[in-house]
Amino acid sequence: PLVPMTAFLEDAKKNKYAVGQFNINNLEFVQAITQAAIEEKSPVIFGVSEGAMRYMGLEYTVAMAKAASEMAGVPIALHLDHGSSFEVVMKCIRAGFSSVMFDGSHHSFEDNIRLTKQVVEAAHAVGVSVEGELGTIGGVEDDVNVDEDAATLAKPAEAIRFWEETKVDYLAIAVGTAHGMYKGEPKIHFDIIEEVAKNIGAPVVLHGGSGVPDEAIRKAISCGVGKINVNTENQVACTAVIREVLAAKPNEIDPRKYLTPARDAIKEVVKGKIRLFGSNNRA
Ligand code: G3H
Ligand code: ZN
Repeated sequence: PLVPMTAFLEDAKKNKYAVGQFNINNLEFVQAITQAAIEEKSPVIFGVSEGAMRYMGLEYTVAMAKAASEMAGVPIALHLDHGSSFEVVMKCIRAGFSSVMFDGSHHSFEDNIRLTKQVVEAAHAVGVSVEGELGTIGGVEDDVNVDEDAATLAKPAEAIRFWEETKVDYLAIAVGTAHGMYKGEPKIHFDIIEEVAKNIGAPVVLHGGSGVPDEAIRKAISCGVGKINVNTENQVACTAVIREVLAAKPNEIDPRKYLTPARDAIKEVVKGKIRLFGSNNRA
């Protein structure tokens, strides 16, 4: 069955690794991520943005994730990514999601606390884990679009108060990463991660995990990051393979001929991230 993220929280903390959230876009992503988790014996989180949910349909999304979790033999969470309202959160919980993110970062600090608290109360009552967000993460991901210059880092004192008042299970804070591929190297503020992580009772979440150098990822984990989101790198790997196959065989009409290698490419990216995050052999 699908599990809340709290199922692997303690072990990850104790053994200083991070669990990967890999966003799903279709059946091939679900299969690739699940197979990678099985081969690496790792817990994983399926991330579903509101855009991906519209694309796949809520029922298909839950059914695919449930099927994967039942055959995988490793813990899998089905997690709403950047949920924008109480309504969408409740819709996902009712449909079978085991975890939700409520992204109230575009609201005022006080409103973000108030709205997140409502989500935590409703979700915890039915055993669903919650991730909150503080500070705004630059870049574009589906419906979430923040101008890089307008992206604001999380303030540690605010992040600590946010956690004390909301008691979210995981806390995403803006520390310099961005959604999408980076133009240059991201400047990650490790000091913010460290100060927040040591003062709250929840792991810090790093969004925008694509394109972050391995060394920076390792350092972020050592500073207290317990969950890392990756989407763009999988999309890039998938689409590059499809382009390659279709360029080499312009007459190919069987989707399986380009989706099979595309799925393998996603799996390889996920396996690499799982090892980098240190969650391999932890399931
Ligand atoms: O919420 C999802 C992520 O933060 C993914 O970011 O596409 O840059 O890997 P990414
Ligand atoms: Zn994100």
